[in-house]
Amino acid sequence: MNERVLVLDFGGQYKELIARAVRGLSVYSEIRAGDIGVDEIRRLAPIGVILTGGPNSVYLPDSPKCDPALFSLGIPILGICYGMQMMCHMLGGEVAPGEAGEYGRVMVTPVVKGEPSALFCIGRRGDPCGQSPAGGEPFDALMSHRDAVTRLPKGFTVTATSPLCIAACEDADRKLYGVQFHPETAHTEGGREIMQRFIYDVCGASGDYKLDDYIESQISQIRQQAGDRKILLALSGGVDSSVCASLLSKAVPDRLTCIFVDHGFMRLNEGDEIERVFSKRRLRFVRINAQKRFLARLKGVADPELKRKLIGEEFIRVFEDEATKLGDIPLLAQGTIYPDIVESGGVHGATIKSHHNVGGLPESLAFDEVIEPLSGLFKDEVRILGKKLGLPASLVNRQPFPGPGLAIRIMGDVTEAKLEVLRAADAIFREELAGTRPRPDQYFAVLTDTRSVGVKGDDRTYDPVIALRAVTTDDFMTCEYTPLPHKTLSRISSRITSEIPSVSRIVYDITSKPPATVEWE
Ligand code: XMP
Repeated sequence: MNERVLVLDFGGQYKELIARAVRGLSVYSEIRAGDIGVDEIRRLAPIGVILTGGPNSVYLPDSPKCDPALFSLGIPILGICYGMQMMCHMLGGEVAPGEAGEYGRVMVTPVVKGEPSALFCIGRRGDPCGQSPAGGEPFDALMSHRDAVTRLPKGFTVTATSPLCIAACEDADRKLYGVQFHPETAHTEGGREIMQRFIYDVCGASGDYKLDDYIESQISQIRQQAGDRKILLALSGGVDSSVCASLLSKAVPDRLTCIFVDHGFMRLNEGDEIERVFSKRRLRFVRINAQKRFLARLKGVADPELKRKLIGEEFIRVFEDEATKLGDIPLLAQGTIYPDIVESGGVHGATIKSHHNVGGLPESLAFDEVIEPLSGLFKDEVRILGKKLGLPASLVNRQPFPGPGLAIRIMGDVTEAKLEVLRAADAIFREELAGTRPRPDQYFAVLTDTRSVGVKGDDRTYDPVIALRAVTTDDFMTCEYTPLPHKTLSRISSRITSEIPSVSRIVYDITSKPPATVEWE
């Protein structure tokens, strides 16, 4: 049983960042609903509680609140943004809309008088963090608020200010701390140190959370849950299902079957690479070469939504056929990760997802139980785990790839000939970007349905246009196009047009999301 920090969710967009930041400090964290009762909190026995930000105004009647008894439990609490305002409001202070808001980087100055704050460790003799940006000197912090605390509750003091607000406050005797800014983001200078001081100096953490322990504990848990029953995993070759397969293969190698449905819309050599990696492991790996079946199903279909729908349906049919052939397998494994659960509302109750499906698998595919060994991990932790489990970097660091694959990167109908052209162009693009730093978060080629006139040798050509897309993003919900150097783009353009005879022209997509999306279809 690890030391645990609870992150109580009040609707803030950074809740996952907070929970991840705590884990980055080697302390296990869990996101829970903001209104969780104190009985449940006592049962979970956290060493500290963090209250997230949120979009509401705490003085309005329906704004979310925590259980008021939380503040009397004696557990250290850090309120961030709305979390600080809510704590101050509920304990008798005052919060009001400011004349102006503070958005973006704002200069925050720790108050240097009286007892130094544990968060900023001002003037602590011999403490090296006294010299860090958040150690007494003004520092840049990310703010995003209009409401502000205008009067502190009894027992609280101001520990930092910004030009427009009380930027931090605390009642150290009761171990209650508040910051109006966001220490969990990289935009706050010394933010990690502030989180660290709260977790270690205030909460007294020892830092007992390690991913190596996670592997061991999951292996024994999987063995216990599975008993002598067989497990089926739908392996897509994506990071999550690959790591899941690897973990299961360590736990129950003789009882695991992984089905990899190759729909033929993978990138160059990708299906073979997945087969190569997993055939070497001690597990039953079944590759279903369903390329012809998928191509036939998509014949003549140009509408993007219809393509997606048909591919999803066909996947289910193939999976059903194979599951039936394999006979009775009572357990289904899937690579659900923690953000999937948080985003599907799983933090709001004790039961996490009563209904499961993989890639749209229907409920009629009956399984007695579902095993989700990665459901406690964030994406970057899954990648670290994958490396520890010995998966190759090419799989572990794989960029997101849509389930329908290259079929939605070919505008118009999909044919084998078009797939070949796109695979070759995409491979050149990826090869050329492989060594660049910083690398875009996702990059790929698109075969457009436009043809343009060109000239090769002495001949006129009239061939398809390839578009290149490269984006920079944290979460893929929004993105900026990546301004790749012109030299790189020229080299890629010249390689694609000379190595692939049937391509006449290359264009570079300079649209952000919104208004565009990452994928073209
Ligand atoms: P969009 O195009 O919606 O893409 O801006 C956002 C991110 O999601 C990926 N994507 C998908 N992933 N199945 C997936 O597993 C899909 O059908 C799908 N469509 C888009 C996309 O590659 C990007 O990373």
